[in-house]
Amino acid sequence: MNTISTLNTAGARPLQFPIPANVYAETVVSVKHYTDRLFSFRITRPQSLRFRSGEFVMIGLPNAEKPVFRAYSIASPAWDDELEFFSIKVPDGPLTSQLQKIEIGDTVIMRQKSTGTLVVDALTPAKRLFMISTGTGIAPFASLLRDPDTYEKFEQVVLTHTCRDNAELTYGQELVAELENDPLIGELTGGRVTLYNSTTRETSGRMGRITALIGSGKFYTDLDIDKLDPETDRIMICGSMHMLRDVKELAEGLGFQEGSLHHPASFVVERAFVG
Ligand code: A2P
Repeated sequence: MNTISTLNTAGARPLQFPIPANVYAETVVSVKHYTDRLFSFRITRPQSLRFRSGEFVMIGLPNAEKPVFRAYSIASPAWDDELEFFSIKVPDGPLTSQLQKIEIGDTVIMRQKSTGTLVVDALTPAKRLFMISTGTGIAPFASLLRDPDTYEKFEQVVLTHTCRDNAELTYGQELVAELENDPLIGELTGGRVTLYNSTTRETSGRMGRITALIGSGKFYTDLDIDKLDPETDRIMICGSMHMLRDVKELAEGLGFQEGSLHHPASFVVERAFVG
């Protein structure tokens, strides 16, 4: 599939309902469909919105008196003047069944507060940062990978992304490929980011859940790196509930401790939100 459209506000459709009080109303500037289950989109950024790279916001559509809001990780970095999101499409999902139909010029609404645990300040300093993701759980890492703070704090970053099918890996592949050419952070990222992806259902060059790949040691031999060690490494985890549980258990088994902004430590976890 992989269709992309660019800004053309001429075709903006009228709002169906008034914008609720205390929410931002922003305009869609681009939409890109990856598969029949995944798409990304960018909207204008409210001037007063401040957030940390890795955080999420609540977004919705102005299509009801009381619109449905769902949590979405912001996939763009804190310095960007647009906001990017990476979303699943659920045919009967209260929000995504409609959100997947958005076009350039449409309005997306957003609550004004951002929050989240996947922020570099919730981790103590270390040498390597491992970002473990499945599906749309890659979104907060798309933000962090484009933020200079990440490279100030860590020398090496390894992003893992596991999906059912090959086409679902495209977003992450494009993200990492574009990092080195990025005029703003390309110099910082050169040679410091490694993408490690796998599929679990469709045949590909590397198959298996990340837990199995780490558990068997294949992860380390494929990348030719030392084993995960709380002395030198930090871990961020985002994806499906079961993956979070299993990777958290794995990390704790290796001696990692869960951190927060109040008590920074060696790993942090956040569920990838599904609308
Ligand atoms: P699998 O296909 O074996 O279930 P989903 O699309 O359902 O959100 O899943 C995204 C990816 O996360 C899939 O590749 C899925 O593998 C994988 N996954 C699901 N549960 C776990 C788990 N407990 N540990 C590691 N990976 C998991």
